[in-house]
Amino acid sequence: MTADELKKQAAWAALEYVTTTGVVGVGTGSTVNHFIDALASIKGRIEGAVSSSNASSDRLKAHGIHVFDLNEVSEVSIYVDGADESNHGLQLVKGGGGALTREKIIAAAAKEFVCIADESKLVDVLGKFPLPVEVIPMARSYVAREIVKLGGQPVYREGFITDNHNVILDVHGLDIMEPIQLEKTLNDIVGVVTNGLFAMRPADVLLLGSASGTKTVH
Ligand code: 5RP
Repeated sequence: MTADELKKQAAWAALEYVTTTGVVGVGTGSTVNHFIDALASIKGRIEGAVSSSNASSDRLKAHGIHVFDLNEVSEVSIYVDGADESNHGLQLVKGGGGALTREKIIAAAAKEFVCIADESKLVDVLGKFPLPVEVIPMARSYVAREIVKLGGQPVYREGFITDNHNVILDVHGLDIMEPIQLEKTLNDIVGVVTNGLFAMRPADVLLLGSASGTKTVH
């Protein structure tokens, strides 16, 4: 099976977790695109969605799924999103698509976070995938220097602007042995909006597409 088929398998498996008739939180990326297509098959059962990116909002709307502003919604019972890496504790690296800040906000607001991925995303130690950090544009060089002091190699994501009009530094060369501590340390650098470590708020369930069927990790 291709990686995309495995992503699709995990995305459709996530439908089982959508028991709400209310608002569903929706992440961003190629795996989530499959989930949005799956969600369209039950769109009559839900009120609508809150979305972590303009790209996901556009896809949801194209399927006729109403997209709410998070401020209009009092409860998000489930959030479904992909990941670039997950460790066995369901702490994640996210933001390959640059939507990390809105993703983290919806994950924080949601009661349950279901992460969907192909099985190659499960790793023992986070950090092989460069860690995205969203930065206020004027702080880019300063933040990069601070990250170098922490042992990372930041690379400016050229030509990319986030939905929040900021820039991304992709940090290479990190072996992330203490994800919660690093998440806090990076967020404490002035000019950082947020970083792609989802360790303080990990996923609750990880659905992994595999050739032998979807694996569930709690
Ligand atoms: C976007 C993300 C995505 O969830 C992550 O990059 C995984 O993407 P894909 O499903 O395309 O492999 O965090 O900001």
